[in-house]
Amino acid sequence: MDTQQTLSPLTIALHWVIALTIIAMLGIGFYMSINEYYPLYDWHKSIGVVIFAVILLRVWWRMRNGWPVPVRAYPALEHRLARATHWVLIVGTVLMPISGMMYSGLGGYGIKVFGWVMVAGNKNPATGQTEPIHAGLAQLGAFTHEWLGYLLVVAVVLHIAGALKHHLFDKDRTLLRMVGR
Ligand code: HEM
Ligand code: HEM
Repeated sequence: MDTQQTLSPLTIALHWVIALTIIAMLGIGFYMSINEYYPLYDWHKSIGVVIFAVILLRVWWRMRNGWPVPVRAYPALEHRLARATHWVLIVGTVLMPISGMMYSGLGGYGIKVFGWVMVAGNKNPATGQTEPIHAGLAQLGAFTHEWLGYLLVVAVVLHIAGALKHHLFDKDRTLLRMVGR
């Protein structure tokens, strides 16, 4: 379990596996959608579905273990800002794969996970056109995926700035504790 001095290996491993994957997925997602670069779509979906399982494990662990106790007493405002950012990050990481799956699956595009067909595409045999399975929910998924993507970028930037502030200006153990030292 986490203590004020050290974080458990599971907390640290889950944090870094998810953090690096989410940063990569934000980059891949914006790049492929802005440039309409379709060869990346199946990779993006595959990684997103697999990391979703790890994200759920993290949520379970966070509920069981509680949030990490701050390494020292911060001003209340700083503490609230950090906690709010952690909530946005953790809820955002859960909703991104769900909304992505809603968009791809219910939009009729299908979801392949490293070649395995998890949800088949829905093409109209007569016209050869992709047809949504549920247009309204697919649109909700697309809207959430895009706007939550922007919100996550802001939250990640704030979060990294906060971690650097603790390390460089406050010179406390917040970042060191998250790298297992
Ligand atoms: C791990 C979490 C994920 C993150 C952080 C993420 C992030 C993003 C971002 C930032 C975009 C560009 C914004 C947009 O056009 O919506 C995007 C696009 C997209 N994502 Fe994800 N994504 C994740 C998981 C998934 C999953 C699991 C799927 C489907 C199974 C998926 C399907 C898509 C699709 C199809 C697009 C292209 C949308 C378009 O071209 O209009 N994503 N993703
Ligand atoms: C290079 C980038 C990153 C650095 C340097 C970093 C650093 C840290 C540090 C030092 C903590 C501990 C805070 C404390 O003790 O109160 C932390 C916690 C946390 N970080 Fe990050 N982080 C990074 C990226 C991310 C990303 C991309 C996400 C989201 C996907 C994320 C989500 C979280 C969450 C939810 C916590 C709360 C504790 C937990 O649930 O593990 N981090 N991070």
